[in-house]
Order: sequence, then C-alpha cells, then structure tokens
Amino acid sequence: MSANREQFGSRLGFVLAAAGSAVGIGNMVGFPVAATKNGGGAFLLIYTLFVIVICLPVMVAEMALGRSTQKDPLGAYNKLSDNATGWKIAGWLSIITPFMIAVFYLVITVWIFGYLTQAATGNLDSLADPNTFGTFINGPSIFGYMVVVLGIVYFILQGGVKEGIEKASKTLMPALFIMLVALVIFVLTLDNAFAGVKYYILPDFSAINASVVSAALGQAFFSLSLGMGIMITYGSYLGRENAVPGSAKLVAMTDTAVAFTAGLMILPAIFSFNPDTNTADLSDSSVGMIFTFLPKIFLALQTTIGYVGASAVASIFFLLVFFAAITSVVSIIEVPVAALMGEKQFSRKKALSTLSIVLIAMVIISATSFGMISFFTEFTQYAGATKSFFDIIVDVFYDTILPLNGLLVCIFVIYRWKKANFDAELEAGDPEYKGSFFEKYVNFSVGTFIPVILFLIFVNTVAIKFFGTSLIG
Ligand code: PHE
Repeated sequence: MSANREQFGSRLGFVLAAAGSAVGIGNMVGFPVAATKNGGGAFLLIYTLFVIVICLPVMVAEMALGRSTQKDPLGAYNKLSDNATGWKIAGWLSIITPFMIAVFYLVITVWIFGYLTQAATGNLDSLADPNTFGTFINGPSIFGYMVVVLGIVYFILQGGVKEGIEKASKTLMPALFIMLVALVIFVLTLDNAFAGVKYYILPDFSAINASVVSAALGQAFFSLSLGMGIMITYGSYLGRENAVPGSAKLVAMTDTAVAFTAGLMILPAIFSFNPDTNTADLSDSSVGMIFTFLPKIFLALQTTIGYVGASAVASIFFLLVFFAAITSVVSIIEVPVAALMGEKQFSRKKALSTLSIVLIAMVIISATSFGMISFFTEFTQYAGATKSFFDIIVDVFYDTILPLNGLLVCIFVIYRWKKANFDAELEAGDPEYKGSFFEKYVNFSVGTFIPVILFLIFVNTVAIKFFGTSLIG
C-alpha cells in the first residue's frame, strides 16, 4: 500500500497545506478578539508561549506518527500498537473528531460564503442590518450556498494530495497573505487606526486569570489543527527526506503570524468606526463578530470610500476568511477520506462520495438547528441549558475531545511507540534537529508535563461543559 501512497510534491507544498489547515476562521477573528478582550499584549505573550512550549511538540509528535507509519490516524495507531484494542479507540477518536468538527465548521463556512456573495453583489447595506443574520441562517438560500461550498471542497479533494490539496494550498495561501496585508495597509490609513493597534497590543496583565490562560491554550491548540488527526494524515504524505521539526516550526510560525496580523486588520477597523470602543462592545463569539459586528463597520467605510469601495473591502475580507476556511475544511475531511482509503481500501472517489452522503445529512441537521427545525434547535438539555445539535458538536468534539486526543497522541508516542523510535523518526530528514535543544525539549515535554496539562484541561472542560462547574476558578 505504502509503495504507491500519494505524497506532497515538495516540502513547501506540505508546509503550505499544513499552514492552510492551521490558518482558519479562528485566526482571522477569534484570535484578535480573544486577545483584545483578555489583556492585549499579555494574551499575545501567553498564547505565543503556549504555541512554542506545548503545541509545537504535539504537532511534531503528530507529524512524526504520520510520516513514520505512512498511514491515516487509525492505521497509525493500529500499526504501532499491534492492533491493541485500547489504542483502536484512540484511532477511532482521531477519525470521528475531525468528521464532527468538519460538520460545524462547514456550517460557518457556508454562512461566510453567503456573506461573501451578498457583499460582492451590492448587498452590504442589508448585511449591516443586525436582523439580517438571524433571517439569513434560517432562510432557504443557505442550502444553495451549501451546494457550492461542498462542491468546491469535493473538487479539491477528488484531485488527491498533490493535484488537489497541494495545488489548492499553493494558490489560496499566497492569495490569502496578499489580501491580508493589503487590508492591513488599508485600515492603518483610516482615522484612529493606531488607537486600535494600541488597544490590541498594549499588555494588561491584570486581565489574566486561570480561565484566560486556559482559553489561550485552547485557542492555540485548535488554531494549530491539533487533536484532529490532520497533522498525522498530512505527515503520512511526507517523504522521509523532509524535515518534520523544521516544517512544524514553519507551520506554527505562519499560523501565529497570520493570527497576529489579522488583529492589525480588525482592531484598527473597529476603532476607526468608534474610537471609544471598549472590550464590552466586542462580541464574545467569532460568529457574532463576523456576521453582525463587522458588516456594520464595513458599511461605515462608505463615508470615506463610497458604497462600492466599502463593498469591495467587505468582499475582500469575506474572501480572505473563506479561503482560510476552505483549506481548513479540506484538511479536516481528508482525515476520514484517508481512513476509508487506508483501512477499507476504498478508492478516493468512493471514499469521498460515501463520506459526502453522511456529511451532507449532518451539515443539514446542524444548519437547521438555529431555529429552522425546533427538534434540532432544542435537541437536549444539560448543565442547565438547552442545547441544539450544533451546540452538542461544539461542546463534545471541539471543546472536550480535542485536548483528549492531544493527550492520547503524546502518551502513545512516548510510551507505546517509544521515545527512541520517535526521536529517530524526527532525526531522519532533519540534520539540524539531532543534538539540538529542541530535540531534548520535545523528548522530555511530550512524555511529561504536556499530557498532564492536556489532561487537566480535559477534566476541567468536562466539569464546565457538562456539570456547570469549573475546577480552576
Ligand atoms: N485551525 C483552524 C482555525 O483556526 C481550525 C480548523 C482546522 C478547523 C481544520 C477545521 C479544520 O480555524
């Protein structure tokens, strides 16, 4: 099987694809807003520290697992554990988790595509109306947008690793960088822009508490696409002559740089609209920011650059977020695709069409759980709140299982696969790694405090999400 396994054409292709996965909706809006609300520069520091100290070693571990086994996550766990039943569960979790996260992420991507289309066709004024979002997500047009988005994702994935994923990443990622930089330059020329930059960057350490620290780690973990089997799968398409640690560093750096730069786009725009903005004005959720807050700000630009100019800026923004989202969706769906191909010997086409059927059903259920169908909207109740089908996916898979998967990868790599094998795998293709401080650090941290921290996060999330009580204040 592995003799003719698909591969990325170059290391650059791999890095761009992995960075494409990592750079997503979370980077564009989630990160800047979380940073601004939680201590500005102080949050940036903690976040960066977590990326380097905790997330990077986990990413290295996931990529090494994939490259060594040349298998999808389930196959990787099976191969290195001699099919042990316990590890099969970890393998299954790393297939089911991305599938479920794909469902909720696709719903948001469909909305973004809808807003992009509306902004580009002259309807920015209606998008800026606070009532539009509620009507839009419960209206029939989302099904049309859904067809187009799923069509694009299908088209990219049916092309395979090199002609599909790699090619798309090589086109979309540079376009994304250019649009991001162009928007930053543009917003920095607006009145009061620098008040926004100051607000974003000046550190306020008094805002830091245990829950901010834990949110920063959660954000970093999700942003780097960890715990979803993605880096295992992409790693399995990497030849042994390519450096894993060096590539992981580039991916983490790109992801963090894009998240930081996105703040330089969002905050100045908000402050030029209202120089007296304070953190309470900023919506807590990325969804609230993208779909109700920001359209209002884009529309306000019409006083300086006219309606067409304002619509152009809004369209570029939504296109940017859409590109970021598409490369993430592609990476996450590739995980179950790879699993069906690897474990069931399905062809790529058969794997994709089988998955599409289930995925479409789940996306429709989730998309209608915002009021359109009350059975899915009021699906169940726990921790004192009514939860929709969409909420459950977010609570269970995104918030809870993600850190658990990270924890399982760490333990598996060090204690089952064994540190010596892991280390040898990382040395292959990366001469600079051997004997480096980073090597010692990875070998130590992945087997010790990283799984402990991920375990604490997991337990605390279960307490908060399902029992309505936090263990860390
Ligand atoms: N890293 C992505 C983000 O920040 C998260 C993600 C990756 C979501 C892959 C889905 C699939 O938005």
